[in-house]
Amino acid sequence: MPPRRFEVRPLSPDELGGRLLDQALWVFGGALGFPPSHGRVVGFADTLRRHAGYGGFRAFGAFNLRKRLLGFSYGYTSVPGLWWREQVAAPLSAEQRAEWFSDAFEFAELHVHPSAQGHHLGSQLHDLLVHSHSHRTALLTVMHRSTRARQLYTSRGWQPLIQELRFYTEPQTPFSLLGLRTR
Ligand SMILES: CC(C)(COP(=O)(O)OP(=O)(O)OC[C@H]1O[C@@H](n2cnc3c(N)ncnc32)[C@H](O)[C@@H]1OP(=O)(O)O)[C@@H](O)C(=O)NCCC(=O)NCCS
Repeated sequence: MPPRRFEVRPLSPDELGGRLLDQALWVFGGALGFPPSHGRVVGFADTLRRHAGYGGFRAFGAFNLRKRLLGFSYGYTSVPGLWWREQVAAPLSAEQRAEWFSDAFEFAELHVHPSAQGHHLGSQLHDLLVHSHSHRTALLTVMHRSTRARQLYTSRGWQPLIQELRFYTEPQTPFSLLGLRTR
């Protein structure tokens, strides 16, 4: 058997929002192709710390043998009033909202640094996060341009609920809303 080059394990909210925060920003910027000084990367620090305090928070990290973070995934329980939920639920019908949002997990982030992509870390981080919670459904938004992520989600049963959605904070970027029945 080839030697193990990576470790994938659960992360506590304090770890991801604290000691590992700088490494998470490095992964995030690298995965999305933004320089470290980009507003999206700088702003993600506050977002991540806020999310780490939400109910039902679950996170996983992938490390190399030198214990450097190469990828992470996290999510939390979806509750009325959370910004992302209000944005993506608004265009849905009442029936869809009841079906998809009454007991839902927000699959918030999944990123692997480009230097470590293609080693099945993304799929492990995905699968661990999906199986870590007991909600009936999970929801996420993915950019149209994220071909690899879309392929990963499709192969794991996520279905499109809205093909094209734009956030007023980022009107030039088309996203899709995907949902997964988890039990
Ligand atoms: C999406 C992402 C997390 C995948 O991470 P990864 O470690 O490279 O993924 P894996 O090696 O586990 O491959 C996962 C799946 O991606 C797809 N994939 C992998 N390499 C690919 C390639 N070269 N071209 C197209 N799809 C590819 C495949 O479906 C693969 O699953 P399979 O091998 O079981 O068929 C990573 O590419 C990433 O961080 N992308 C940028 C950030 C992003 O878009 N995040 C998602 C936000 S919603």
